[in-house]
Amino acid sequence: MPKSYQVAVLVGSLRKKSFNRMLAHALSTLAPSTLSLHIVEIGALPFYNDDLEADAPSSWQEVRRRIAAADAVLCVTPEYNRSVPAVLKNAIDVLSRPFGAGALNGKPAAIVSASPGAMGGFGANHHLRQTLVALGVNVMASPEVYLGNVSALFDDEGALTHAGTTEFLQRFTFAFSAWIEMLSAH
Ligand code: FNR
Repeated sequence: MPKSYQVAVLVGSLRKKSFNRMLAHALSTLAPSTLSLHIVEIGALPFYNDDLEADAPSSWQEVRRRIAAADAVLCVTPEYNRSVPAVLKNAIDVLSRPFGAGALNGKPAAIVSASPGAMGGFGANHHLRQTLVALGVNVMASPEVYLGNVSALFDDEGALTHAGTTEFLQRFTFAFSAWIEMLSAH
């Protein structure tokens, strides 16, 4: 029986009706049986402050533990002012410490960005890629996912209704599974 990889999903939006959260759920449904996707909540993490490390907040310890236990990480994020939303950047800052031994170090990862606008969060996607690569995260190069016009892709219940996008995202999840498998073999 093929192994099922545990994928921790970090969503860069806290909005109840977030399109990116809908997208994270859609990706979970579309993914092959080799992947098991779980959202790890990051909205309640205190802002990173090195002074707190001596007695690290329990929420920091929990998110570090959950990411360390995952086989891979998937970031699904909107773009805020051409960059990564603060909530996601803060989570990554928390996960980047202790220096040199952060929970993200060496993990296979992938980035999905989405926006109601035409450019699909390209700026956020690449700022995030820059940060993750600097942390030694093995970010999948392609297929890249910049999902534009995202508000037109879901129905009122949050289900993905656009056939072409569904097929594209399914191919993305299969590629991500192969990426994780390749890196986990070493
Ligand atoms: C945005 N939005 C936005 N969109 C974009 O394509 N490029 C951008 O730079 C920004 N900047 C930005 C800043 C701030 C503070 C907000 C609140 C919004 C719009 C954004 O893509 C839109 O609100 C999405 O719906 C947010 O994603 P969720 O919450 O639906 O997942």
